[in-house]
Amino acid sequence: MKILFVFGTRPEAIKMAPLILKLRQDLDVKVCVTGQHLQMLDNILELFKIVPDFNLNLMKKNQNLEYLTGKILSGVTEILKQEKFDWVLVQGDTTSTMAGAMAAFYQKIKIGHVEAGLRTFNLEDPFPEELNRQITSKMATLHFAPTEKNYQNLLNEGCPKEKIHITGNTIIDSLKWVLKNVPEPEESLEFADTHEPIILVTGHRRENFGDGLIQICSALKKIAKHFPHIQIVYPVHLNPNVQNPVKRILSKIKNVHLLKPLGYPEFIHLMNRSHLIMTDSGGVQEEAPSLGKPVLVMRKTTERSEAVEAGTVKLVGTNSDNIFEEAQNLLSDHSKFKAMSIAHNPYGEGNACEKISRFILGN
Ligand code: UD1
Ligand code: UDP
Repeated sequence: MKILFVFGTRPEAIKMAPLILKLRQDLDVKVCVTGQHLQMLDNILELFKIVPDFNLNLMKKNQNLEYLTGKILSGVTEILKQEKFDWVLVQGDTTSTMAGAMAAFYQKIKIGHVEAGLRTFNLEDPFPEELNRQITSKMATLHFAPTEKNYQNLLNEGCPKEKIHITGNTIIDSLKWVLKNVPEPEESLEFADTHEPIILVTGHRRENFGDGLIQICSALKKIAKHFPHIQIVYPVHLNPNVQNPVKRILSKIKNVHLLKPLGYPEFIHLMNRSHLIMTDSGGVQEEAPSLGKPVLVMRKTTERSEAVEAGTVKLVGTNSDNIFEEAQNLLSDHSKFKAMSIAHNPYGEGNACEKISRFILGN
């Protein structure tokens, strides 16, 4: 059996890496990197010692969706025409996921969708990810759903029961791998006063470009002013639509530290050292509950309601005053903070790759 992994962004690489290592033990596995991301992908491939067999090298500064979609579709199609594969595996909901799956669909190759069935049911939010994952579900042969809720979403859309498997999320496999194998780098926190509490921030989503991101940054500015001892650490996504407003509003504030995107282990260890996490990221919402870290999600919707229901994650929207108030509540009220700091594992125990591998081998 011959398998082609197709992915292109940071979270896909993090979530596919342990599965590549697992499937390589038994099968002929090749890796196609679309090049949707560049610097933010390389450190993860290096970490897991994955050398791509194909690299479409697509990234352009401030690229648009139509450019990416067209190039990925034709690039992956060429590979699939040159070499025969039994399966194409894609992950999540990016443009690489959707266009990679479509290339396989047109070539009549079986598609395995890792992290299937997440939904907000709002095509505008997250944009364009909600459409990407719904389209991918329509094309997939097997659906690897992280949770029971994701499984139900797929059943409700008419997916045959026997094609959906609940596996947990492979991000927990990666997280555990890092915590076990990579020691905390000594110099990782030299930029901040480590005796003080850290708020770790990330933000990058397309639907937050413009006003959403300005509101988020204003809230962070206000938090920094009201809590001058707190260290706000923000590794800034390389997208210029993120870099520009974040730097304009938040540079030159003493207790706000704007960093380059961190390597995956550095980021995980920093999460572990943080008091509170404020983010619009999907993956961070999945990692933080395992580490017992409270998360304020600065988005209008989330497709990851499991941790919200468990009480470790709170959806706070993108209004600056609301974000500030929610953060202030947690920073001033110890009992509220403690109630959100329970370690909880809604996304599995770290054996998702083992399960997915079994289902693929059985098909
Ligand atoms: C993409 C995904 C999003 C995912 C995110 C993870 C889509 C539509 N969006 O959004 O679902 O949550 O990745 O981070 O697929 N850039 C660099 N170097 C890099 C990566 C990005 O310079 O290594 C800059 C480039 O200017 C690039 C821009 O960021 O054009 C945007 O990248 P793109 O992949 O289009 O969008 P993301 O916002 O990263
Ligand atoms: N991450 C990282 N370095 C950073 C910020 C995040 O390695 O500076 C990791 C994080 O641990 C998580 C993943 O990137 O596993 C999330 O990716 P991102 O937020 O870009 O995308 P999303 O999950 O929102 O699709």
